[in-house]
Amino acid sequence: MSILLAINGWDLRSWQERFQALLPDREVLLAASEIDASRVKYIACWKHTPGSLARYKDCQVLFSLGAGVDHLITDYDLPDAPIVRIVDPDLTGRMSEWVAWQCLDWLRQGKMYRQLQSEQRWFDDRHQPAAQDVRVGIMGLGELGMDAVERLRHLRFDVAGWSRTPKHIPHVRSYAGESELSAFLARTDILVVLLPLTSDTRGIINADLLRKLARDGRLCGPVLLNAGRGGLQVEIDILAALDTGQLKGASLDVFEQEPLVPTSALWTHKDVTITPHNSAMSHPDAIAQSIVSQIKDFEQGEPLKHVVMRDKGY
Ligand SMILES: NC(=O)c1ccc[n+]([C@@H]2O[C@H](COP(=O)([O-])OP(=O)(O)OC[C@H]3O[C@@H](n4cnc5c(N)ncnc54)[C@H](OP(=O)(O)O)[C@@H]3O)[C@@H](O)[C@H]2O)c1
Repeated sequence: MSILLAINGWDLRSWQERFQALLPDREVLLAASEIDASRVKYIACWKHTPGSLARYKDCQVLFSLGAGVDHLITDYDLPDAPIVRIVDPDLTGRMSEWVAWQCLDWLRQGKMYRQLQSEQRWFDDRHQPAAQDVRVGIMGLGELGMDAVERLRHLRFDVAGWSRTPKHIPHVRSYAGESELSAFLARTDILVVLLPLTSDTRGIINADLLRKLARDGRLCGPVLLNAGRGGLQVEIDILAALDTGQLKGASLDVFEQEPLVPTSALWTHKDVTITPHNSAMSHPDAIAQSIVSQIKDFEQGEPLKHVVMRDKGY
């Protein structure tokens, strides 16, 4: 029984060595090699070439090497096997760090003070709202969103969330579905986007959504944070909202096209913070270890964890 690595854009050989060290008695194959498809029982994927996995009809589990599965599920020619994604507490914690960092930076006007320091200017600003005066709205209340809720609540932000299905979280107002989206946005000063990219969520951060954000908040204008996926946002709409003052600022970790193109106006916009899709990196060893332990449990008859709903796309 073999595991096949179908990986583009990452160092294939180091992934092969990593899996081989954890599964010394198995074949760890590379998609590029000539192989007998019937031997492949598991496939671990990252941005594989669409259509290239169809021939592995005996595959029993498809593993995404990332938390998101948009790179995988958009291939309509996959083997008919469950898709399992990575849920890693270390990754989740790092994402919450990024969210807390950016929320605090906007709350405490980090951009302004860095600029003032570069000009050696002492600006005695008395406008300092407290975290509890700032309404954070988290889009996506899954593994990442729920942890971010907890972290922000510890920092005393006024937190609410929005998801596809309703949630019951103590002291946190939960909104669900299209019908409650406008009410959620209307009470949001900092919008944190931790949604998966699916056919329902593609382009959701657009002009229409941005204009519904709260305009009466203590930050003097709404702020957008997106660390979900670049395909969720319409960058031209974000830039327009920043330029008209509809948005006070944005912190973006993900982009429509990555790496962000050198010509993008986002790079130089004074109200934009950019991180290069590294808000929450998983260590490759932790990813491989997590997949191998799922394989071992699966072979002992245990149910798979973190299985994706194919019909929902996440
Ligand atoms: N920037 C990075 O480095 C990085 C790292 C890791 C992950 N990510 C991204 O973060 C995403 C979220 O990760 P996760 O582990 O939190 O995913 P998850 O556990 O699957 O949670 C997804 C959340 O989004 C909600 N959702 C999905 N479709 C929706 C829709 N149409 N309308 C409203 N809510 C919807 C779900 O609602 P329900 O609760 O009702 O199902 C759920 O609350 C990943 O898919 C990935 O793209 C980015």
